[in-house]
Amino acid sequence: MRIFYHPILGKLEEKRKITLEVDGKKIAAYEGEPIAAALLAAGIRVLRMSPKREEPRGVFCAIGRCTDCVMIVDGQPNVRTCVTPARDGMKIQTQKGLGKWAKKL
Ligand code: FES
Repeated sequence: MRIFYHPILGKLEEKRKITLEVDGKKIAAYEGEPIAAALLAAGIRVLRMSPKREEPRGVFCAIGRCTDCVMIVDGQPNVRTCVTPARDGMKIQTQKGLGKWAKKL
């Protein structure tokens, strides 16, 4: 669900439609919106699994402070999706645990 008109902020600005790949599935998004907003609009609520208890986590603060929304974005773990703008073709994965960094050769 998206809010296209807000009583205080007004009408949602028109932006270019793009596609994100989330765990191998393509979803629609608007360029520049937070990745987490696109995921929520697509009905995706679980963004990571906690390291110790492997419990699902989703958006909590939505301002880049709590790290509950971290995911693997284009191979980079621990990206705060609530404050990271969406770009066309991004590959996003649900993060399990602390995330592993790719080895550089
Ligand atoms: S939801 Fe808290 S950092 Fe993204």
